[in-house]
Order: sequence, then C-alpha cells, then structure tokens
Amino acid sequence: MASIHIHPPWLLPESQVTPENIHRNRRHFLRDLGLASAGVAMAPSLLGQTSTNASAAFYPARRNPAFDPKLKLTSEKLVTTYNNYYEFSTTKDRVHKLVGPFRVDPWSVWVGGLCEKPTTFSLEDLLKLAPIEERVYRFRCVEAWSMVVPWSGYPLSKLLAKVVPKAEANFVKFTTVMRPEEMPGIARLSDYPWPYTEGLRMDEAMHPLTLLATGLYGKPMAKQNGAPVRLVVPWKYGFKSAKSLVKIELVSEQPATLWNAVNPTEYPFLSNVEPNVPHPRWSQASERELGTGNRIPTLPYNGYAAEVAALYARK
Ligand code: MTE
Repeated sequence: MASIHIHPPWLLPESQVTPENIHRNRRHFLRDLGLASAGVAMAPSLLGQTSTNASAAFYPARRNPAFDPKLKLTSEKLVTTYNNYYEFSTTKDRVHKLVGPFRVDPWSVWVGGLCEKPTTFSLEDLLKLAPIEERVYRFRCVEAWSMVVPWSGYPLSKLLAKVVPKAEANFVKFTTVMRPEEMPGIARLSDYPWPYTEGLRMDEAMHPLTLLATGLYGKPMAKQNGAPVRLVVPWKYGFKSAKSLVKIELVSEQPATLWNAVNPTEYPFLSNVEPNVPHPRWSQASERELGTGNRIPTLPYNGYAAEVAALYARK
C-alpha cells in the first residue's frame, strides 16, 4: 500500500508455524467434550485466544458447508502474526506484539444514519443477533498475497435489517476505532485521515457473502485481526475489510474512505479483485500464497465471480 514493506512469509521459521489441523483437531475435541461452550472461563486459556471472555461461549461455530471451498487453510500462526493494521504498525510481524494494551471489552457499535431504527449494539447484542457460523474464505490483499481463512460471523445484511434502512440509503460507511493512546501507529502516520474508514455500496453490503466477522479459527477474533468485530468482503482487496468497527452508517452519497483519500488512483472505491487491472505499481495477475510461497493465478473477484459479477454487470 502507500508505504508498505512486504515481509516475506519465508522469514517466519517453519518451526513457528503450527499446522492448522492440530488446532482444528484440538478444538473439535473440546467441542465434542462440550467444553467449548461449557467452559467459558476455561476456553480462553486452553485455546490461546486473545479476545474477550464474553464472546468465548459462541465458539467454535459450526462450519457452513456452502462456504467451504476445500482449500488448505493458511496456518493460524501465520494469519495472526502477519497483519496489516496500520493503527499499530506498518510492519506486519510487529502488529501482534503491540496489541496487548488495546481494550476490546466492553465494546459497542453504533449503526445509524438513513434508517428507521438507529441502534447502539453491545458486543453481546451482536453475538446474539444471528446464528454465528464458520465460513472459509479466500482473502486477497491488494499487495498481491493471499490466504485462506476460517472466519466466524454472519452476513452483515442481518445487522442492517435490524435498523431498517431507508430507501435513500445508497452506501454504507464503516468506521474503525481510533485510540491513539493504545495504537502507536496512528501518531507515526499523523498525516493520514484517521480514523480508518471504508465503504460499500448498499447492494454490496447486503450481499450474502459480506460477513460481519466476530471470530477466526474457531475463537473470538484476535486483536491483531480486528477484534472484536470486523468486516470481511472476500471478492474485494483486503483493505476494504475494515477492522474493529465502532460505527456503521447508512448514507446517500459515496463516503470518503481512508485509502481512497490517501491515494485515489491506487485504491479506488470499488477495488474488486481484478487480475486484468494492474495496480499502478505492480501486476495483479497473480498472488503469493502465504505459507507456501507459491505464486498462483489471481481469479476474477477472487474466485467469487459466480456470486457477485452480476452486481457489476451494468457498471
Ligand atoms: N482495518 C484497519 N482498521 N486498519 C488497517 O490497517 N488493513 C486492511 C484491512 N483492514 C487495515 C484494516 C488491510 S490492507 C488488509 S490486507 C486486512 O485488513 C488485513 O487483515 P488481517 O490482518 O486480518 O489479515
């Protein structure tokens, strides 16, 4: 992105990467024993989660077979130690070391703007609002690397329906928490238009693939991945998937967003994954698969063309 230093995953010794099947077997073992839901106080330490106790009872969620592409998951270790979260650091492998002081409990998200029932939801409200399920999504960063991640959550449309959007709501604006005292990266990028904001068209926000994610790898969301609640829009470049949401606003005009304001040419508002449209500074035709180092072809809409291409047919 603007001043990103890409740290290749091969810098991470293989010995530090816990194979994901070990994690999966362990949590399925716990679930089968009934410990995952019964042991609210016990689960966090056993599962090594970094998020709140309040949400632990909701995990692991059952995987939805409709969103299980049978791809090999990127290791949990890599997904939680190779992060873009500029509020903390522009160095990917430093983010997880800096999130300790970041408070994610209690948490609330205001959902309002052009709707009938603007509401402030606590994290508990959000967790109970709809059944939480696990979905395996490909995730493609604009920097031309990708991973395969099991997220937990539910479609954003379920939350938006609760506030009853008005007909004039054409776009949704997402705002991330901004706490400079807990987020050392903000002061280092003082010329950025904080807080981190993102946006979707209303039809994109209501699309069943657009996920309000509260967890990953069968646990509450790790802080470095956007605890306690973030957006995941799998057919768009990763920067559209804003982390640690505090505000979701229904608006009539296309909202300003952080990356678009920093560099509109490099980070256009739509930013769908399009292998034939190069980034001004690099090709988007292929991507580096995290964990294997393989370079694989990038798919239109990141492999979700069948689901979303129709959204753009007339544009
Ligand atoms: N959200 C906030 N608030 N701050 C960020 O720096 N980075 C974005 C996106 N959401 C970012 C953010 C980018 S560039 C990517 S690729 C993904 O988060 C990375 O998510 P991950 O760390 O869970 O892989």
